[in-house]
Amino acid sequence: MPALSSPSDVAVSLIQVAKSYGAVEVLQPFDLQVAEGEFVVLLGPSGCGKSTILKMIAGLEEASHGEIHVAGELVNYVRPRYRNVAMVFQNYALYPHMTVRENIAFPLKMSRQPRLRRAVIEERTAEAADIVDLTPYLDRKPAQLSGGQRQRVALARAIVRQPAVFLMDEPLSNLDALLRADMRTSLLDVHSRIKKATLYVTHDQIEAMTMADRVVVINAGRIQQIGQPHELYTAPANTFVAQFIGSPRMPLHSLTVSDDGALRIADATLALDAAVVLEPEATVTVGLRPSALRATDSASACFFGEARRRDYLGSDSYLEVDLGGGSSAMVRAEADTDVRPGDIVHVDAAPGAIHVFDEAGVRICGASVGQRER
Ligand SMILES: Nc1ncnc2c1ncn2[C@@H]1O[C@H](COP(=O)(O)OP(=O)(O)O)[C@@H](O)[C@H]1O
Ligand SMILES: [Mg+2]
Repeated sequence: MPALSSPSDVAVSLIQVAKSYGAVEVLQPFDLQVAEGEFVVLLGPSGCGKSTILKMIAGLEEASHGEIHVAGELVNYVRPRYRNVAMVFQNYALYPHMTVRENIAFPLKMSRQPRLRRAVIEERTAEAADIVDLTPYLDRKPAQLSGGQRQRVALARAIVRQPAVFLMDEPLSNLDALLRADMRTSLLDVHSRIKKATLYVTHDQIEAMTMADRVVVINAGRIQQIGQPHELYTAPANTFVAQFIGSPRMPLHSLTVSDDGALRIADATLALDAAVVLEPEATVTVGLRPSALRATDSASACFFGEARRRDYLGSDSYLEVDLGGGSSAMVRAEADTDVRPGDIVHVDAAPGAIHVFDEAGVRICGASVGQRER
């Protein structure tokens, strides 16, 4: 995360912002700051409140509580068109009868700011078109463009306004998977050229992890964690984040701490990686990160158990391994592994494989396999 050394480095600042519709609280009070040039992704399942956050920043919805600052200015009572933001939506709604050039220039012609000279409009339109690589298509109509090109027109229409902040609400979700991957790259390319603060909404964890400087994970109107992609992956704040990020999904096991304070999974005793003392007979939840578990031939491995299922993914395979005591793990193996359901599999746990959460699902610490009793 870029260090926020002075207030002028902050493009967006949300302070104790909350949203209710009548008695229904759709967003609990939260704080969020976005630095100049930063690319922040709001990630969470449908209905968690992502779009509502963008709409409050854009002024399309009023915040029920809290302060919204854009480029150093308190904007709660500023009308949308006077806020220094531009929004890009999933449904980009281009004007079909206008050319690409006219579509891009449209926000400038409609601007209530002092009238821009024609030459300025032309120059800024050409520049925006160049940034999104649409210069050869300026005289076409939207119907003569591909889906990706149309989405780039929508992006250019935001760029041409030269806002302090870009707000993007699932802008790629109308595109097919291949094109989406291409557009991700070109969006990041555009971002690195204009370096403006961007808040980008998606429900797709891969999009979030690949694009973001920082990710804000949201569930049911509550911010779960804000962090860089690797922080979310290696130290998920709670079981929701642990399961929402990463594929295959992290299995969770409810375990009881033994009388002597030890935590055992299968026949292994876990060594906690922090100086925490677990209450004897407390219930904790243990999560095993599939990508950090490996099937191995070594009998000195951390766990062993019976393979139940094998998922072939092309680059590798995942085995579901029954560890006994009601626990199972998803374990990475070679794509062409000859392990079949019913075989005994030894499992190595790399650092970062094991996460311990309290009864409320909040992460306590990580763990490794200390000793095995066999
Ligand atoms: N005008 C409204 N009146 C009442 N509830 C609304 C309204 N708009 C959105 N909501 C509710 O607010 C929650 C968050 O919606 P939204 O921000 O659109 O979620 P997301 O973009 O994450 O899918 C949802 O539960 C939705 O039903
Ligand atoms: Mg939405």
